[in-house]
Amino acid sequence: MRSIINEKNLNNKKVLLRLDLNVPLEREKITDTTRIDKILPTLNFLIKEKAKIIILSHVGRPKGKVVKDLSLKPICEELQNKLRKKVKLISENIKEIKSKNFFNDYNEDIFILENIRFYSEEEQNDNKFAELLSNLGDIYVNDAFSCSHRAHASIHEIPKFLPSFSGLQLDLEVNALNKITSEITRPITCIVGGSKISTKINVIKNLIPKFDNIIIVGGMANNFIEYFGNSIGKSIKEKNYEKIVEEIISLSKKENCKIIYPEDVIVSKDLNGSPQEKELDEILSDEMILDIGSKTIDKIAKIIDNSKTILWNGPAGYFENPNFAYGSIQIAEKIIEKYKSNKIFSVAGGGDTVSLLNNLNAVNKFNFVSTAGGAFLEYLEGKNLPGITALN
Ligand code: 3PG
Repeated sequence: MRSIINEKNLNNKKVLLRLDLNVPLEREKITDTTRIDKILPTLNFLIKEKAKIIILSHVGRPKGKVVKDLSLKPICEELQNKLRKKVKLISENIKEIKSKNFFNDYNEDIFILENIRFYSEEEQNDNKFAELLSNLGDIYVNDAFSCSHRAHASIHEIPKFLPSFSGLQLDLEVNALNKITSEITRPITCIVGGSKISTKINVIKNLIPKFDNIIIVGGMANNFIEYFGNSIGKSIKEKNYEKIVEEIISLSKKENCKIIYPEDVIVSKDLNGSPQEKELDEILSDEMILDIGSKTIDKIAKIIDNSKTILWNGPAGYFENPNFAYGSIQIAEKIIEKYKSNKIFSVAGGGDTVSLLNNLNAVNKFNFVSTAGGAFLEYLEGKNLPGITALN
């Protein structure tokens, strides 16, 4: 993997730069800018080297359709403010734009193409689409470690057409995760939460042989709660995953890895409703699980106390509403308490987890915080990530 930082002749070179600007948006307003802040060193380096920049990124999962709420417009404005430079958003159909339409104005050095996932070809890893994009640049840079587990056109296919490099943030994340995985000490506990169940549930099986405890919270825990015979009302869950849950349980016994899922929960009638603590057999059909309960928090705290390494990916509940953030905050505070007394090595990852830690002013109270969620877990799994493989 060649890093862009070692490239000297970038003057006037057109750089196609894949970033992960998938930041949380609420009514087209950014609620956490961490992923933008982290890639500023790469942009500033390219600006200093007088490169011409075309940024590619996705936001959310528009599934090949134009979704107004998932426009990169607010992100473009934020970049412009942070860089104090003009950043021009290109909203025209990407498939119709030509290289000669860029960099004709002397004060336009940075362009950003509208959400790349507005085109179904992106997730289909379409080779022709990648070739078309590659025609816009002279070289390609991937500074989106957090998307590198996706075999998508802008991550996996473009490097087939252009000299390709890693960006500064990608280098940092890969080096840190390599160091962590080679120096890890037992007992190791991995906490997996968040709402992207399908991305994460398949990873769990491969993590079992590597870890001592896997604590399942957030959306995925609902699949486990239901599997053990409880009603989960209208909570989110992944359909047809009973077999995978069964395999996870039986493999964990064989490998002596404890799987922990919630013993009690906080429910409500809707995302804006008031919280109520319940035992697992008390959940009504019109209720949804939105956080872990107090017995579960105590149990997790004890496991953290007995661990030497904690890897945390995904909040325990719907933390965007403070009524359901308590479980995630308690987990964070317990890890920080142990970190401060030097008794634990702690790593957190994922867009939502980073946003939660930012709200708590706690990003610097972990040994390492990765911007990556799914990519972070797959890297821990020992998988070759398509985006990294393509750079090699
Ligand atoms: C992330 O938020 O983990 C990355 O942006 C990838 O998003 P995805 O899970 O929708 O592919």
